[in-house]
Amino acid sequence: MQNFIFHSPTKIIFGKDTENLAGAEVKNWGGTKVLIVYGGVSAIKSGLINRVIESVKEAGLEYALWSGVKPNPLFSDVKKAIAFAKEEKVDFVLAVGGGSVMDTAKAISVGVVDDGDLWEIFMRKRQPVGSLHVGAVVTLPASGSEMSSSCVVTRDEDLVKRGFFSEENRMQFAITNPELTYTLPPYHTACGIVDIMMHTLDRYFSPDEYSDLSDGFAEALLRTTVKNGYIVMDDPENYDARAELMWAGTLSHNDITGVGRNWDFGPHQFEHELSGLYDVAHGAGLAAIWGAWARYVCEADPLRFARYGVNVFGLEFDYSNPLNTAYAAIDATEDFFKAIDMPITMSELLGFEVSDEDIEIMAEKCTNQQTRTIGTFMVLDKQDIIEVYRMAR
Ligand code: NZQ
Ligand code: ZN
Repeated sequence: MQNFIFHSPTKIIFGKDTENLAGAEVKNWGGTKVLIVYGGVSAIKSGLINRVIESVKEAGLEYALWSGVKPNPLFSDVKKAIAFAKEEKVDFVLAVGGGSVMDTAKAISVGVVDDGDLWEIFMRKRQPVGSLHVGAVVTLPASGSEMSSSCVVTRDEDLVKRGFFSEENRMQFAITNPELTYTLPPYHTACGIVDIMMHTLDRYFSPDEYSDLSDGFAEALLRTTVKNGYIVMDDPENYDARAELMWAGTLSHNDITGVGRNWDFGPHQFEHELSGLYDVAHGAGLAAIWGAWARYVCEADPLRFARYGVNVFGLEFDYSNPLNTAYAAIDATEDFFKAIDMPITMSELLGFEVSDEDIEIMAEKCTNQQTRTIGTFMVLDKQDIIEVYRMAR
């Protein structure tokens, strides 16, 4: 087991009607004027925004609204939101939405305090100098942003999508009411299921040999997500299944499933190039690339893949040839993605075949112009990355 620091300070308020506590919770954290950040239509249509505004008023707080956050948020929009937040002199940022809204709120909270070049932070050249307090009412179990230290944004000019990790990105609180996810279309429900699995798998598939407890957490989280994923796809208003996914989503990215391991996160980096370039949903992009990545790296440690197949999908271990079990685990994962209508190739994702030119562009960007490699399970350079994209075509 590797040395680690585990710090997961976000207060989680889980369950029915908890969005009505948003205002009081902002007040608890010392907020006096809150910027409420939300997306396109879903939170207005469901009446959620009105309920949140009511709770803010009841707590005696002032507020301003920033709406229209798009999926895969753009850096230019984030900068406009920061200018607005400064003008309004808010002292708390409250996200009401999924990962795109939460990440926009995090970026605003950093940008209001940090007058330097923010993109340097996204490119991990420096850390932020501070941030406003930030909280969330989560409407989509997927990104795990409510408890992660990460914030992901796409720069408009070159469509480079990057995330930075910082303690400044930790939310003070997150409200997670599974009922708010009933309105999710099946596609976004499925994208969320894949993303929850991937935060776990990107920690699980890493080179360390011994981490019993983390592996056990990871496998339980994966089994829970697969089982309840099937249930919600058939029965979207099943409270218990939605609740399991909500909690799994939060825990999938708060580091608990990966403590003591040297995470890989290669598939996430492959995907960020896809959603950066083609503006696709993050979870669907992950589903499209994962099988190719897994087959490319599998022989670095087939027993790890076999263990995953046995403990998550209940496969039988093939003692005469463990590699068979490893490949069967990859097939089982893709079968699950297919069962919830997720793509397993880039052509299925995009509806066209990705050109060699685009693969070259994505590989070049993924390596930051050949200045970095990605992954730890198997360290991948630009040529490896090109191969994986070709396999995923
Ligand atoms: O804009 P509205 O109308 O609200 O619609 C949204 C959006 O179109 C809709 N939606 C959200 N909640 C809903 C709902 N529709 C009906 N009912 C609800 N309850 O869902 C669509 C997608 O929303 P989005 O926030 O983009 O999805 P997600 O939560 O998957 O977030 C994706 C973003 O998070 C980043 C991704 O890269 C992507 O940019 N990630 C952030 C991470 C982090 N900060 O830790 C980690 C992740 O790995 C990921 O990279
Ligand atoms: Zn993700």
